[in-house]
Amino acid sequence: MSQLASAGESASVDRNAVPRPNFREINRTFFDHAEAKRRWNVKTTIPWDKVSDRAVDDQLVTILEAFYATEMYLPDYTKELLELNRDDHGLCWFLTNWCYEESKHSMAIEDWMLRSNSRAKTQMDDFNEALLSNRWTKPFETSRQMLIYTVFQELATQVNYLNLSKLTAAAGDPALQKILLLIASDEGNHHRLFVDFVLEHIAIDREGTLKDVAHVLKNFSMPAHDQIPGWEARGKAIESSGIYTGKQFVKRVMLPGLQRLGINRRELPRA
Ligand SMILES: [Fe+2]
Ligand SMILES: [Fe+2]
Repeated sequence: MSQLASAGESASVDRNAVPRPNFREINRTFFDHAEAKRRWNVKTTIPWDKVSDRAVDDQLVTILEAFYATEMYLPDYTKELLELNRDDHGLCWFLTNWCYEESKHSMAIEDWMLRSNSRAKTQMDDFNEALLSNRWTKPFETSRQMLIYTVFQELATQVNYLNLSKLTAAAGDPALQKILLLIASDEGNHHRLFVDFVLEHIAIDREGTLKDVAHVLKNFSMPAHDQIPGWEARGKAIESSGIYTGKQFVKRVMLPGLQRLGINRRELPRA
């Protein structure tokens, strides 16, 4: 037997193994589209010369600061997800690109906070220190559950940014509007990509994936609330301002998310 044949045999596929989702192709399509159509630049895409001087209502700035804080746990999100998916090239390559795209969100918000004089440099430095003293850990155990969680979390994040952009529009700050809409667009694109990942799982194991969807939805909460300084007051402000409520979660996150996954919610209790 030639060396080539034996190498080929040792690398051959086990026909009885459980099929694995093909995430490589999904990632590659997403990445090529992002490179061609979606890249934006923190320094040059935002109209920084049009930043207002403290024109945005204080309570809305406090909410924006909470969104910033959530974005700042990126090292933990990335670490947990990469570790969980270490053996899948498609997911790992996607996660590194996702991390790059997400990293711009906090940078743009922090720049706006400083340029609009909504926060002083020392305030941001202190806030960043406080954020560093906490750590986020993943709310679900398996890769599939975390992919499902992220489907709903990214869509909920998009809803949060879109609603904040509506409430801050009256302040007449084109730089802030641009930032919020750029971030919302990224979050929506991430949501759809996670949908594609979960659809792969559904195609392979519909029953098991639906059980995981039911489990995730039953235990769903947005990330990093326990880590963010002053979360209680910020959370209340987010709810009372109508930016994100339980009703919004059902109407704008859970139901459209399930629909994109091709799941009828009446299937879930059975699952
Ligand atoms: Fe983000
Ligand atoms: Fe996100």
